[in-house]
Amino acid sequence: MKKTILTGIKPTGQIHLGNYIGAIKPALDLAKVPHYQPAYFVADFHGLTKIHQADEFKQLSYGIAATWLALGLNPEKVIFYKQSDVAEIFELNWILSCFTPKGLMNRAHAYKGIVEQNREMDRDLDDGVNMGIYTYPILMAADILSFQTNIVPVGKDQIQHVEIARDIAETFNHHYGETFVLPDYQVQEGTELLPGLDGRKMSKSYNNTIPLFEEPKRLQKLINKIKTDSLPPAAPKNPDTSIVFALYKEFATEAQIEKMAECYRSGIGWGEAKKELFDVMNHFLEEPRETYKELMGSPKRIDEILENGAERARAIAKPFLKEIKRKIGVHM
Ligand code: ADP
Ligand code: TRP
Repeated sequence: MKKTILTGIKPTGQIHLGNYIGAIKPALDLAKVPHYQPAYFVADFHGLTKIHQADEFKQLSYGIAATWLALGLNPEKVIFYKQSDVAEIFELNWILSCFTPKGLMNRAHAYKGIVEQNREMDRDLDDGVNMGIYTYPILMAADILSFQTNIVPVGKDQIQHVEIARDIAETFNHHYGETFVLPDYQVQEGTELLPGLDGRKMSKSYNNTIPLFEEPKRLQKLINKIKTDSLPPAAPKNPDTSIVFALYKEFATEAQIEKMAECYRSGIGWGEAKKELFDVMNHFLEEPRETYKELMGSPKRIDEILENGAERARAIAKPFLKEIKRKIGVHM
């Protein structure tokens, strides 16, 4: 039996380096392991908790799909789909919500974060919280559990959500007998949280990102904005504490990495280190950037691929949902 590995990205902004290094790159590496069955998807209905402009929503969803494909996702091997095309997930979402204590949602960090912010600003605590945000982790559990997922590759900030999915699955299993596989998360070591331009976690929410498919000139500009210390150019630098080096490692070859680490230790100016970073990054991204543009220009092609993936996804989710419904007493 192949192990299922599953992950999704919600279309709430342009894909940035943090998404790539923390989520997409490790997932694409795992997709190459022969005994894994990868299922990767556009978590569009998760994005709907935030994006309420139809055109923007559509473009962002295509953007996520085009990003995966441009970076080499093989839709023959990966079951690649859009969440909203798989209706079974939303039926399971309801079933699972009837097994999820409200208190568990109160403790979910995304919701808690908004409440805390409201408290600080002296606003109503529920300000800006729609029910989609509140029950977000249940839909994520439905995403994961619909496909008997073994491994969920995600960034560190998503660990709690995978743990919640596990909790919900355990509760259900306890009631009705072994039904759901208990999922494990997998976080890429060393890149748990890629810092952004200002040193905080790189995130759409902080406006401190480097978008992955930025044009070369803009890319160079953004790289130049990365916060560094004020050591003089000739002073030795520690590659292990430098964001510039952390990024360099993601795009360079082993030999280049070793050589660059040596340069840091013997002293390299930040200007030059950033130039080197731009070179490896741009070299790596040139081709995917073009493919991305091409795909964004032919949304029909993306639709075709996603529809095909959704069919494969439903072929798994549908019979499983039927079994679940039988267990809870909806079907014979
Ligand atoms: P954002 O914080 O920009 O809204 P998302 O929440 O949409 O990003 O995250 C999509 C995926 O990318 C998740 O698996 C998340 O853990 C990962 N991710 C996001 N930002 C980073 C980061 N700065 N470093 C590592 N992984 C990240
Ligand atoms: N919540 C994830 C994020 O913000 C996206 C997501 C939705 C997801 N469903 C998922 C990730 C299932 C992994 C598995 O990045």
